[in-house]
Amino acid sequence: MGNLTVIVLAAGGGTRMKSKTMKVLHPIGGRSMIGHVLRAVEAVEPTSVVAVVGHQREQVGPHIIELLPTAVLAVQETQEGTGHAVRIAMEASGTTSGTVIVAAGDTPLLEGESLRAFAVEHEAAQRAVSILSGKVPKPFGYGRIVRNAEGDVEAIVEEKEATPEQREIDEINSGILAFDAEFLIGALARITNDNAKGEYYLTDAVGLAREDGLTVGAHLIDDVAQTEGANDRAQLAELGKELNRRIVTRWMKDGVTVMDPATTWIESDVVIEPDATILPGTQLLGATVIREDAVIGPDTTLKDCEIGAGARVIRTHGELAVIGDRATVGPFAYLRPGTQLGVGGKIGTFVETKNAQIGDGAKVPHLSYVGDAEIGEGANIGAGTIFANYDGVAKHRTTIGRHAKTGSNNTFVAPVSVGDGAGTAGGTIVRRNVPAGALAVSSAPQRNLDGWTESRRAGTAQAEAARTAREQQEKTEG
Ligand code: UD1
Ligand code: CA
Repeated sequence: MGNLTVIVLAAGGGTRMKSKTMKVLHPIGGRSMIGHVLRAVEAVEPTSVVAVVGHQREQVGPHIIELLPTAVLAVQETQEGTGHAVRIAMEASGTTSGTVIVAAGDTPLLEGESLRAFAVEHEAAQRAVSILSGKVPKPFGYGRIVRNAEGDVEAIVEEKEATPEQREIDEINSGILAFDAEFLIGALARITNDNAKGEYYLTDAVGLAREDGLTVGAHLIDDVAQTEGANDRAQLAELGKELNRRIVTRWMKDGVTVMDPATTWIESDVVIEPDATILPGTQLLGATVIREDAVIGPDTTLKDCEIGAGARVIRTHGELAVIGDRATVGPFAYLRPGTQLGVGGKIGTFVETKNAQIGDGAKVPHLSYVGDAEIGEGANIGAGTIFANYDGVAKHRTTIGRHAKTGSNNTFVAPVSVGDGAGTAGGTIVRRNVPAGALAVSSAPQRNLDGWTESRRAGTAQAEAARTAREQQEKTEG
């Protein structure tokens, strides 16, 4: 392809979203709507990209530049129509030759391959204008593609200008158009706002090309969902569901087992290796990576996590965690940022971890909080253990040595360490470092205060039970 300029229109208000967030910034499938469009645009390797911004441009502009630093922002102060928007974009771009593609910023299902095929066909046919058209069951609101008796495209007629017969036409302008740059510059100067909406219609360029005797054509896209925009939250949800269906289908084609596609949500940037299994009610978000043979779910949400080969993650919520090969997590685990679990390790039921490096084969099986900790390989942490990392002012670390075995209901008061092969007794509150190989015991010897309940809890069911037991024992003892 020759010189290619892509113009992305994103100046409109999007009032039907009823949102303080600009329409094209609403997320879908893990990216903003315009983020999806820019990804498709980048795939056709354009010479330059111009984004037209207007409404809430202080939000939209920086977002576009963050995603595509080479983009040129063209500011449209007042939204006077798509023809006006494109005129401003052409002035900002300085483009005078080659091909110009115009797209909207709110079509998140658009794929680079479709855009490329459209651009290639436009250039090969040497047209002044090409329209990416689609057939829709409800054409209301769209510009209709008017063809003559020979089937050649004559014009695009907007809804408000259309005759009753033209309103019956079900071939519509998707909003994606390709132009010869020289023709476009001339046409933009000729388009007027003398119409029902008082707007400069970019689509009037089609009729102008025909008047000039130039070639115009439409490329009918089979997959019209790719050009559908979301104008309100209901449409956003519909498109989100469709986008997800496409992503899930793609992973299944690539060898991933998805037991229930309808309740499985996978965002665009997630990577899953073949033979992984995703169980119902699972959301894989952000830059999550799932390695082969891992089984995830049911009812699991992982954001920006990496799950090793053959690992098992059940009913878990995780963010920025790295889980080793063949490790097991859950049910009911909460993995917070900085969690790392080694090969074959275990983070079990009702366990919360944060900034914790847990070694190969190490286990935290039950009811524990592990914050700011390093647990050596093969160590075992007893049920109900708290890593008390916070003294009310600062966070401190706890280190547990290799193959250490700590008892149930321990509290590690950080900063503290337990040496390699050391142990702690049940109920220990570990305030001082435990040397390698030692056993730490902190609880006082048990004292039994006989008759305490009957004297101190008189009149309660507990005291009554104690009295019955005492009387029975007195009887047997005679
Ligand atoms: C437009 C097309 C119509 C097509 C439909 C597809 C025109 C005149 N009509 O109609 O043929 O079927 O899209 O969705 O082009 N925008 C600006 N600045 C403006 C006006 C619009 O940036 O001054 C942007 C909007 O933010 C939006 C896009 O251009 O992203 C389309 O504008 P919109 O007002 O939605 O056009 P439609 O009336 O839907
Ligand atoms: Ca529209």
